[in-house]
Amino acid sequence: MSNSESIIDMSRPSAGRMYDYMLGGHHNFEVDRQAADQVVKMLPFLPKAARLQRWCLQDLAIELTEKRGYDIIIDFASGLPTNDHIHHVVPEGTTVIYSDFDPIVVEYAREILADTPNVHFFQADARHPEELLNRPAVKDIIGDRRDVALVYWGLSAFLSDEDIANAARYLYDWADPASTWVFMAQGADMDPNSPDLMAMMQVYEKIGSPLIFRALNWVEQLVQPWHPDENNYVSLLDWHGMDTRELDPEEMQTWGPAAGGYGAYLRK
Ligand SMILES: C[S@@+](CC[C@H](N)C(=O)[O-])C[C@H]1O[C@@H](n2cnc3c(N)ncnc32)[C@H](O)[C@@H]1O
Repeated sequence: MSNSESIIDMSRPSAGRMYDYMLGGHHNFEVDRQAADQVVKMLPFLPKAARLQRWCLQDLAIELTEKRGYDIIIDFASGLPTNDHIHHVVPEGTTVIYSDFDPIVVEYAREILADTPNVHFFQADARHPEELLNRPAVKDIIGDRRDVALVYWGLSAFLSDEDIANAARYLYDWADPASTWVFMAQGADMDPNSPDLMAMMQVYEKIGSPLIFRALNWVEQLVQPWHPDENNYVSLLDWHGMDTRELDPEEMQTWGPAAGGYGAYLRK
């Protein structure tokens, strides 16, 4: 990473490092903490929602490997691979390929993962999955294997409709029928008129990461021709088996019936 890149990034909050801070991590700067504190003041449920999203990520990593037999997981827009991420919960020998487009996240990630066998981290943009999948280093790792698990978790709100539709088409052509694409419809069915939510969206817009929350049926259209398996789209609450009594009814009004989104195991 060049100096100029780090100066630009450190003077401006990054969504990935704000997320790390909300998860209780230490890979963030004062500017990230200030921006995160600002949004948490508006939406006190946000750190809990971030943790729920991570718990669900661990759930899917266990499901993919132990129950569905995948030994290669390719994760897009991973954020920091801290000790609540995929590689910590999968069986030894599972190949995990992480990626993120933020150069500082990539640099920290490589520090965190130094000497972790079978776990890799690349800089790549999830809007163009071919960037990661066609990298010579990734081809060296997975060879001709296409029976893999692909993961877009906690990412859809950062992508435009066109980005999601393009990624769906590319991955559909790339993957073989034994693959699964795990997709989270982030923020689906939240209350779009909530003033707190709108204020939070303004903060993210200001830092250059505008958020787009879509109705679930719109996401279902965008990811076609992929379709969910027999479990269909599952709310994050059900995905993790969380007791709704733990949640404040007022907060739930903003966050909607799913508490932040839905996940699905998409098949060809
Ligand atoms: C909210 S975190 C999600 C992390 C992780 N997937 C999870 O669910 O815990 C968002 C991460 O996505 C990254 N990101 C956002 N847009 C991206 C893109 N187009 N390509 C790659 N990474 C992206 C950010 O840098 C940040 O680290």
